[in-house]
Amino acid sequence: MPKGAAPVIAAIVVAAGRGERFGAPVPKQFLPLLGKSVLQHSLDLLASHPRLSYVLPVLHPDHINASSLPAIAGGLTRAESVLRGLRHLSLQPDKPDYVLIHDGARPCLTTDLVDRVIDALYNHPCVVPAIALTDTLRRDSSTVERRDLYAIQTPQGFHFDKILALAEKNAVANQELTDDAGLFEAIGISPHRVAGERDNLKITHPDDLRHAEMYLSSRTGDVRCASGYDVHRLIPKDKDNRKLMIGGVAIAHDYVLEGHSDADVALHALTDALLGTVGAGDIGQHFSPKDPRWKNADSLDFLRHAASLVTSRGGLVAHADVTIICEEPKISPHRDAMRKIIADNLFVDIARVSVKATTTEGLGFTGRREGIAAHATATVRLPFSATMPLKDGAP
Ligand code: CTP
Ligand code: MG
Repeated sequence: MPKGAAPVIAAIVVAAGRGERFGAPVPKQFLPLLGKSVLQHSLDLLASHPRLSYVLPVLHPDHINASSLPAIAGGLTRAESVLRGLRHLSLQPDKPDYVLIHDGARPCLTTDLVDRVIDALYNHPCVVPAIALTDTLRRDSSTVERRDLYAIQTPQGFHFDKILALAEKNAVANQELTDDAGLFEAIGISPHRVAGERDNLKITHPDDLRHAEMYLSSRTGDVRCASGYDVHRLIPKDKDNRKLMIGGVAIAHDYVLEGHSDADVALHALTDALLGTVGAGDIGQHFSPKDPRWKNADSLDFLRHAASLVTSRGGLVAHADVTIICEEPKISPHRDAMRKIIADNLFVDIARVSVKATTTEGLGFTGRREGIAAHATATVRLPFSATMPLKDGAP
């Protein structure tokens, strides 16, 4: 790392296990938890963390497409899955200086915890979140002194080159380790402990999922609803080779919507609604129509950006509702395709997305087919203390 430059920090999320102790029909990391999978909670939080430049899920080959981010295949043991992740990162053009390794089965991590681990990495090669044990511990009939005992959690943080070298060496030695800090302990380096969080439990048994649901729902009690509205002009198709995009779907039609980006009126209204839930201004502030970067831009990128401002504050998208106002084209044949593409980009279940359409009975500009309008509302759940600084310096 050049002196004074910010370190490149990546996160590996290991989620290639089978969840045998949990015993559900699918591995525990894919079970639903407050409207998205257990795994997706960690991915959303890490992907929107301003200090992380890369988040790599490591999944079982059977579930390789089951996350929002491009994933790689894991191995038969956790250590193998970690090693594959480290090797993959070592081949990236911007090889990380630091890496966090997190269990996909721990959905309740917080941005504060991630920050504590990263801060300590500036001075230590190996950092673990630890919790002092409070229960009395017994081995058979004797009580175990708990003063020096800690429960160790993830994300654990490491200097990248060191952990990669140790993990490669361990693969040759073929030792069984349950966490990554053990690699440092084995060569006499004590991991540096930072405060873990009691809520940051690892889902192992069915009980744990109930606790995670309790923690996450009590943390996101600040329910907010906001609206968005947008209009774009319809122009004949032959004046422009663009497609008519509505709700993320290309619709065959004689007219297209005019605009700097792909002019997807429905996604713009919904993006504004999401921005409204976190008081982050409007779409023009984030994606100026004068900025050449957004010329013919895919409005799904705008939508994902707005959703990331919710997740970066530790929030969840609870519901999205869009009403498209036009005489033509007919929306109903495309309604479910729109719901699916919006849901996939918000990383929520399709049941949380609604798309409706109406005409204005021939009245007004929509009635005269001069343009298409869209209204949207978004409902999100946020922590009451959502003060997360934003990646792009937005309000
Ligand atoms: N893990 C992995 N690759 C493996 C085994 C485990 O990536 N071969 C991941 C799990 O998906 C989990 C984390 O490592 O996120 C911690 O492992 P654990 O809680 O033991 O999960 P499972 O191995 O899936 O559960 P079990 O041991 O009950 O089968
Ligand atoms: Mg296991």
